[in-house]
Amino acid sequence: MVKKYIIKKGKEYWPSPEMKKIAWIKDEKIYAKANKNPVKFWEELALEGITWEKKWDKAYVEKLPYFEWFKGGKLNFSVNCLDRHLKEFGDKVALIWIPEPTGEKVVKFTYKQLHKKVCKFANVLKGNGVKKGDVVSIYLPMIPEALISMLACTRIGAIHSVVFSAFSAEALKARIEDGKAKVLVTSDGYYRKGEKEDLLSKAEQAAKGTTIKKIIVVNRINKEHKYINYKKEMEKASASCVPEIMNSEDMMFILYTSGTTGKPKGVIHDTGGYAVYAYWTAKWNFNLQEDDVFWCTADVGWITGHTYSFYAPLLNHSTTLVYEGGPDFPDLGRWWKIIQENKVSVLYTAPTAIRMFMRANGKFIKKYDLNSLKILGSVGEPIDKEAWMWYFNEIGKKRCPIIDTWWQTETGGTLINSLPGIGPFVPTVAGKSFPGINHIIIDKNGKEIKEKNKIGFLVQTSPFAPGMLHGVYKNEKKYIETYWRFKKYYDSSDGAFYTDDNLIRITGRTDDVMKVAGHLLSTAELENAINEHVNINECAVVPIPDKIKGEVPIAFAILKRGEGSWALEKEIKSFIDKKIGPTARPAKTYFVKALPKTRSGKIMRRILKALLVGEEPKGLSTLLNPKSVDEIKKMIGDSKKI
Ligand code: WT7
Repeated sequence: MVKKYIIKKGKEYWPSPEMKKIAWIKDEKIYAKANKNPVKFWEELALEGITWEKKWDKAYVEKLPYFEWFKGGKLNFSVNCLDRHLKEFGDKVALIWIPEPTGEKVVKFTYKQLHKKVCKFANVLKGNGVKKGDVVSIYLPMIPEALISMLACTRIGAIHSVVFSAFSAEALKARIEDGKAKVLVTSDGYYRKGEKEDLLSKAEQAAKGTTIKKIIVVNRINKEHKYINYKKEMEKASASCVPEIMNSEDMMFILYTSGTTGKPKGVIHDTGGYAVYAYWTAKWNFNLQEDDVFWCTADVGWITGHTYSFYAPLLNHSTTLVYEGGPDFPDLGRWWKIIQENKVSVLYTAPTAIRMFMRANGKFIKKYDLNSLKILGSVGEPIDKEAWMWYFNEIGKKRCPIIDTWWQTETGGTLINSLPGIGPFVPTVAGKSFPGINHIIIDKNGKEIKEKNKIGFLVQTSPFAPGMLHGVYKNEKKYIETYWRFKKYYDSSDGAFYTDDNLIRITGRTDDVMKVAGHLLSTAELENAINEHVNINECAVVPIPDKIKGEVPIAFAILKRGEGSWALEKEIKSFIDKKIGPTARPAKTYFVKALPKTRSGKIMRRILKALLVGEEPKGLSTLLNPKSVDEIKKMIGDSKKI
């Protein structure tokens, strides 16, 4: 019998008795209980979920804009992911890795096998001069070695800085320079959509002239190179490595995210608080059970990949699935085939992927048995009703709840969503703050908005979640400016409102940051990059809605001389591929004579946006050059005729 995990009551979906039977959390009272004394609540969870070498002296210390969890507590993160499970779960599969080429064998690692690899690679890192506190750059695709090298860093107390493999050499270089890494772990390449993608030449180019002294290369596509060979080093390395005991607040990793200004911010995450938060959010949101196979499709280059593709399932001695390649290789059935063959029970993915499948031919999905699924997750951007319903009907077959998790790179783990055993599951609505966490909605003066359906700024109140960032790497000013403008609240830079049922609905970013295919991208960063092109004098970038990617950037550029052309537009695209990466590529570039500006010289992106979406722009009277608007309007109109 195929099990049904939800039922419909009124307009909404709720957990079914079947779900209630298996849910870790099914009593709504947990919220009130946790809120009575959140610090005590988290202390209890920290003791139950994580293995400590030494208990903390003080559970929570707050001196805003900084706060620390489990101060004085000592632990090792890799021990929590691996060693502590070996006795009971040593032979359980920790990782199922699916290579993209269909003829290649699926690789499974038990906890014991993974532990051995991690210990070996920790010794390889040590042998190559990495010490506690050093930053290691990791530029790897979705292959097991990404997980192995990250865990190896945590074993010896090195700080990992993972850079998305689709990022360009220049983007990698900037991140290497910020962290001053001496060692770079990369691969010769990877498979994507049936092709061999080169990674090493980008890595090589990025490392040139930086602090990088050694490059360790995983062979994936068997390219010749002169660097340190991962496999050979592993063969020589000892499989025993005493873990470095770290303080709870020690930095565990840096991950870069787009800001409102050009330079990406190095978000700092600590060890203990992050571990506790990753463990419990995964366990309760996805209701992890002993025989579950958990598949989070996010790439390790993003926080979702760190926390939910890799770390949280391992902390929970669960089985995580990792797929190397493209969702449409060899056809759009690939994901669904993977689910059928591996009996995936939880699928956690992004609206942009859902929308892509929604527009494809349904036959690719219908062929496969998806009855192993229990819970579906969504993350990365607001999920629209159409995509939610499609995901619910076609993938979940009206049996599975959709857990729409709102959170950020900065927060380490999920913050707002409905829990599977409690519900409700409402399209476009994220839900409630995780037990023990609290958010409020405020106006620009910091005053709380309690009315329903009124949009304001979504902020978090003290005590702040254990998984939250601990600063911006080497940039305190940025940390304070970006997150603490409301002083006592953490500012998410998202807008939100309460629904009639008192659930939180996210309305999107309030700053100059856009979301392209689930990836944050700052308009400023993209503008800076376009401005570096020799032909460009000045530019402005605005996002417009896109059916599949959510948003895409549109550029308006003023040339230094001459006329715009198709060729130049194409050239800018490949220029951006090189500068940032293909996600940032402008969908269209308009070559304009002037940009609408205020008298103080600020570009009015709001006006450009209105023109693009066909709305009447407001506030033209404050412009220095209102004529520019007519020119742009005509140009957009003309381009739509083509
Ligand atoms: C921004 C953070 C969360 C990890 C991956 C992205 C948007 C994220 C949702 C959601 C509505 C969402 C927000 C947030 N966002 N999840 N379920 N509903 N919006 O991390 O790249 O740091 O982006 O993504 O705008 O601030 P990120």
